[in-house]
Formats: sequence, structure tokens, C-alpha cells
Amino acid sequence: MNTTNRLRIAIQKSGRLSKDCQSLLKQLGVKLNLREQRLIAHSTNMPIDVLRVRDDDIPGLVMDGVCDLGIVGENVLVETQAERERVGQANAVKKLSKLDFGYCRLALAWPQELGQQSKDWFNGKRIATTYPEILKQYLADENIDASVVMLTGSVEVAPRAGLADAICDLVSTGATLEANGLMQGDTILESNACLIQNANLNDDNKLSLINKLLPRLKGVRQAKE
Ligand code: PRP
Ligand code: ZN
Ligand code: MG
Repeated sequence: MNTTNRLRIAIQKSGRLSKDCQSLLKQLGVKLNLREQRLIAHSTNMPIDVLRVRDDDIPGLVMDGVCDLGIVGENVLVETQAERERVGQANAVKKLSKLDFGYCRLALAWPQELGQQSKDWFNGKRIATTYPEILKQYLADENIDASVVMLTGSVEVAPRAGLADAICDLVSTGATLEANGLMQGDTILESNACLIQNANLNDDNKLSLINKLLPRLKGVRQAKE
């Protein structure tokens, strides 16, 4: 649990969401001393600490109460919730707001030279992904009998490396698929960044600070719409 009296917010250290997370905090008026390499950045004008971690770790940190708030892609949130559900670990969070950045699709893809394929093609195939829970659910729903190869990174090279026949990965601009000669198929999940809160947070000071920050967040969103 976060036993300090400072509000702890987890954000992605480096990746698709990190720039937008930092400018969001700035727009909320949270002044930070973000020195490179630092895991924790202390706000200089509010009782807030920002933890910069791998995006995949953010839902778990918030679910376990190590952090009070987190900014994370829905893709990672849904995957962690399903995984924890399966092993019987706490997986509740309070979703405070959907954010207007980090849009991407979790989609199937396969080598371009194979051309257009129907869902049946995936029967008996191996699909590499970082999102095994979401993929397995999709395969079950669609009655596809494929095997899932779990990779935490470099999923896009799996077909070329002979590790899998196809992949299921995030697509944002499509540049990664293009660069790896892969063709995009069905979208399994659409995702945006969202702000989550520990489900059991009951510290009055922290809750009132969050209540002060949230309207500013709405203001940020409306100003952009
Ligand atoms: C995703 C995905 C691809 C890339 C796709 O990774 O795994 O590598 O983004 O984006 P594009 O369509 O714009 O090329 P992500 O940034 O989520 O990082 P991670 O895999 O390290 O978590
Ligand atoms: Zn990740
Ligand atoms: Mg990636």
C-alpha cells in the first residue's frame, strides 16, 4: 500500500503515452522536477509523487494500492484485469476518466505475401502477442482453434523469425506493420488512455486533492473538443 500522505500517480516512463501523460500533468497544474532516470518525481507545488514505470506494471500497481492513480491504455488494463481474474488476485479499479490520447487498436496481422485471409485460416496457426488473455477470449468467442505464443516485446518480428504464423498487436499509425511486411486484419479491441484510481482509496486528503484535480481535467478535455 502507499503509506505516504502524498498522492502517488503512475505513468509510463517511456513509450507512446509518456509525452501526453507529462503534458496532462502540466495542464493539471502539477509542477514536476522530472530528471531523467528518476523513478519517482516529487511535485514541487502539490503533495503528489509521480512514479515512472513500464506501462504493463501500472494497472497492478493501482490495483494493489501501491499507487493511488495511474494513467494507462485500456488494452493493458483489460489484459491485467483478465489475468488477475484467472488467478484470483484483486483486480478492481475505479475508472475516473477516458483521456483523449493514446488511441490504438489491438489487431490481428500476418505476412503480406499471404494475401487476404478469412478467420478460418487461423485454425491450427500460432499467433504471437503480448495480450494472451484478450486474444484467447477472442479466439474462444470466434471458435478459432489457434495457439497463443506470449512475447513481451518485438511481436512484429515473430512471423519472420519463425516463432509464429501471425501476430496480435497494437496498431497506432500502422508504421510498425508496414515496416515488417505485415497485413492488418480484424480489430479485437479499441483502446484509449484512461485515468484509474485504486478502488479502496479512502484517505480524505488524497480524495479531496483528486476532486480538485478532476474538474481541471474536464476543462482540459472540453478545451480540446
Ligand atoms: C505498440 C506496438 C508496436 C507499435 C505500433 O507498442 O507493440 O510496436 O506500438 O505503433 P505504430 O502502428 O504507430 O507503428 P507500444 O508503443 O505500445 O510499446 P510497448 O510494446 O513497448 O508497450
Ligand atoms: Zn508495454
Ligand atoms: Mg511495441
